[in-house]
Amino acid sequence: MLLSRESKNSPVNSAGTFPFIRFDAVIHFAGLKAVGESVSKPLLYHDNNIVGTITLLEVMAAHGCKNLVFSSSATVYGWPKKVPCTEEFPLSAVNPYGRTKLFIEEICRDLRNSDSQWKIILLRYFNPVGAHPSGLIGEDPRGTPNNLMPFVQQVAVGRGQALTVFGKDYSTKDGTGVRDYIHVVDLADGHIAALKKLSDPKIGCDVYNLGTGKGTSVLEMVTAFEKASGKKIPLQIAGRRPGDAEVVYASIKKAETELKWKAKYGIEDMCKDQWNWASKNPFGYGSLESKK
Ligand code: UFG
Repeated sequence: MLLSRESKNSPVNSAGTFPFIRFDAVIHFAGLKAVGESVSKPLLYHDNNIVGTITLLEVMAAHGCKNLVFSSSATVYGWPKKVPCTEEFPLSAVNPYGRTKLFIEEICRDLRNSDSQWKIILLRYFNPVGAHPSGLIGEDPRGTPNNLMPFVQQVAVGRGQALTVFGKDYSTKDGTGVRDYIHVVDLADGHIAALKKLSDPKIGCDVYNLGTGKGTSVLEMVTAFEKASGKKIPLQIAGRRPGDAEVVYASIKKAETELKWKAKYGIEDMCKDQWNWASKNPFGYGSLESKK
């Protein structure tokens, strides 16, 4: 939001710029992220995610701030041929949402190639779950959740009847999809590590995976959540979800060596903190009325 009036107390002048503030770096988390919606509304995704990023990069340059940490995603590995996914893997996208992340990565690489003052770190998130341990901050998806853990959480608080498990015929330990779940607090710490790394003169446009390096199946995740919450999560086995990869988990070597960052929390902590948030806030930031 830009303030429209210039005053002694306002950092914003009448031109809408910030003449007295120096911005050291920007962490760009903003973006639409629902895969299914991106398939039905591709222009919305390209406009919001890509055009929004270009606008941000232009504004940053106008303010002489050329240090960026960007939230990319493991989605840019597409359906990986092998695991763990290393940062050098070939990139592909299987839906418009994934394409926006991939295109933004390419835009950042082009920008750095054009001007060596830019220092950019692209963080490829794996599957962020959990909540802040205080139980005060957590995920509150609008409408039906797309992702596994917000759905499990809604079933646990009585807002859903059963979890639909998408596919039990994968070649995995129990037939369900395997992912690299990472606690949101670890993810946040990864951003601090990336911000610190921006002062390394060797940084150009560099990529790091943020994951735990461990694969967990849907059923293992459900069992861990049942244990943490004491609630039974009824399951309904369905067919595979189109576009889902079988097994995705991160190689964490590069982040560990270069960012000096490593995830501290396991799936028990993720489920404990997610349940703490859910049980204290069964309707997220709203109320029963607001969710009707
Ligand atoms: N799953 C279910 N039932 C559900 C929801 C999910 O069985 O109701 C399964 C999926 O089939 C998958 C696993 O749970 O095996 C995880 O699914 P999510 O939707 O939680 O996460 P994805 O791995 O599909 O996607 C996540 C992010 C994307 C990102 C991608 C990168 O949500 O933004 O990781 O790989 F692009």
